[in-house]
Amino acid sequence: MSISNITGSPVSDGDFYDRKWELDVLNRALLAGNNVLLTAPRRVGKSSLVLAALHWARGQGWTAIDVDAQDCDTEPSFLEKLIESCRKAGVKLSTLDELAQKAKALKRFLAGTNLGGGGVTVELPDEGAEDWREAGRVFQRLLDQLSSGTTRVLIGIDELPIFLAQLQKQPQGDDRVDLVLRWLRALRGQTQGRVAWIICGSVGLDTFVERHGLVGTINDLQLHPLGPFSDEVSVDLRFPFLPLARLLETPFCVKPRRTQPLPDFEPRGGGFSIRCG
Ligand SMILES: Nc1ncnc2c1ncn2[C@@H]1O[C@H](COP(=O)(O)OP(=O)(O)OP(=O)(O)O)[C@@H](O)[C@H]1O
Ligand SMILES: [Mg+2]
Repeated sequence: MSISNITGSPVSDGDFYDRKWELDVLNRALLAGNNVLLTAPRRVGKSSLVLAALHWARGQGWTAIDVDAQDCDTEPSFLEKLIESCRKAGVKLSTLDELAQKAKALKRFLAGTNLGGGGVTVELPDEGAEDWREAGRVFQRLLDQLSSGTTRVLIGIDELPIFLAQLQKQPQGDDRVDLVLRWLRALRGQTQGRVAWIICGSVGLDTFVERHGLVGTINDLQLHPLGPFSDEVSVDLRFPFLPLARLLETPFCVKPRRTQPLPDFEPRGGGFSIRCG
């Protein structure tokens, strides 16, 4: 195996090493119809694992949508990111154009509205929220179209808490964060069993919602804490000839591989939590 020395970005394909057990657990959870919140300290490999799960889903014939929300700061920018991610995943449905119209309408609304900055103030939960809900209905229709028949969809949303933290700084930020989290929660509920969701971020969504009193908006997600690599795998990573030596059963084989049993997954809703690593 040859791993290029890429640091910084999430890794994929040939640069993605090991995590077989974790990926297996994750995939089984998704197959069982669970939606997952992947948590870990910084730089442990969350984004890379999500990319691997998306790759696995593509191999299953699912539509796999990779959403990186780190540059989003308002609801329309998040919608635009969803649209762009769907297009990158090869989705060509005209419903995407409809969704783009909703994003534009919401952008116009936000640009022309004084949201709490003095003068005549419009409360977002009125007209703007209706645009947002309407966008949710269009997005749901899109997901229905994508998951018709036996086809399933996997959506990985990375850096959702960064987007939410940016949104929270905007006028009426608390209400808007609440609305976005409820919007996503409703979508997960309405597409249950057909669309699987993995959410993660360099800032934990669990700690974010706890801080903002919004725990109820993510309590449908199954928690998957990701641990660091085992010592043995870390050695493999730094000395890539070792796995090859292992494969060839040479005397370099220093330790047995980790063999943890895979947990059984109940269909979603049991509040099942597992520990990886
Ligand atoms: N499975 C892996 N195989 C090889 N390298 C990995 C793997 N997982 C993580 N790395 C290394 O760790 C770095 C961080 O990985 P990644 O970006 O996936 O972590 P993260 O937990 O999402 O980080 P952050 O908290 O910053 O979002 C990568 O750039 C890569 O060098
Ligand atoms: Mg990451």
